[in-house]
Amino acid sequence: MKIIRTTRAMTSWSERLRRDGVIIGFVPTMGALHDGHRALIRAARLRCDALVVSIFVNPTQFGPREDLTRYPRPITKDRALCREEGVDVCFEPTAEVMYPEGFQTVVTLPDIARRWEGEARPHHFPGVATVVTKLFGMVRPHLALFGQKDYQQAALVRQLAKDLNLGVAIEVRPTVREADGLAMSSRNIYLNAEERMIATSLFRALRAGKQAIEGGMKNRTAIERSMRKTIEQASGIHVEYLAVCDPDSLEPLTRFTHRAVILGAIRIGTIRLIDNLLIHLPGKKNLARH
Ligand code: PAF
Repeated sequence: MKIIRTTRAMTSWSERLRRDGVIIGFVPTMGALHDGHRALIRAARLRCDALVVSIFVNPTQFGPREDLTRYPRPITKDRALCREEGVDVCFEPTAEVMYPEGFQTVVTLPDIARRWEGEARPHHFPGVATVVTKLFGMVRPHLALFGQKDYQQAALVRQLAKDLNLGVAIEVRPTVREADGLAMSSRNIYLNAEERMIATSLFRALRAGKQAIEGGMKNRTAIERSMRKTIEQASGIHVEYLAVCDPDSLEPLTRFTHRAVILGAIRIGTIRLIDNLLIHLPGKKNLARH
């Protein structure tokens, strides 16, 4: 496996392969790789001839009071996982490579990024959109894979790739979960034993909401209230949002059709966890108005 650190080396590697008709897959990450990343890498491996994983803890997507400095950086372990999974290139730019002196341009966000994470973390999506655009320009992949766990991020990247004609197909892969349902995340290692136990209540609340909708409940506010109750039974958890949304616009659902997504974010102490569940009711259209 090659480790590449500069833009020029990355781009010329990709251009050479592209000229030979090689299909390049890309999994962008901030490292601290877990089985969710492994699943993305494996899916990319199956679809592409050559595979790049980037590891870059992007400073611009962290707010001033967020966990940038303590974000886990187990680079040796990460490289070992990439080697195990047959990754061809681990792209590890430094902050200076990514944001050299004179760097100024920031991508303006689509509507889809306005609510939820966009509201809770105003720095986050401008940083994500800009770094992902830059990474696509550096790596020049044909296909890039993202996890559904960051549902809003994946929707934003899809819109971005389309609007800016970035020439890359985006595939979103299902969330990988621990046995008790907790969505895998690099931030789970911050949880102590007690916090880890209560962290699953986010998934349980989302599942309860999904079951309520599948069972025919059509009142969005009542569903959201009952999900909140499920979580607030565990002390020490602060609910930031739990919302039944249109899966495309991410606006709160005003009319129940056969598709929805429930988005959730909670805080346990200083640790923020997000998760979501997609709902698809086969054969049902326009279940009710709300
Ligand atoms: O999901 C992540 O790990 C990051 O937001 C990403 C897409 C690698 C951009 O820094």
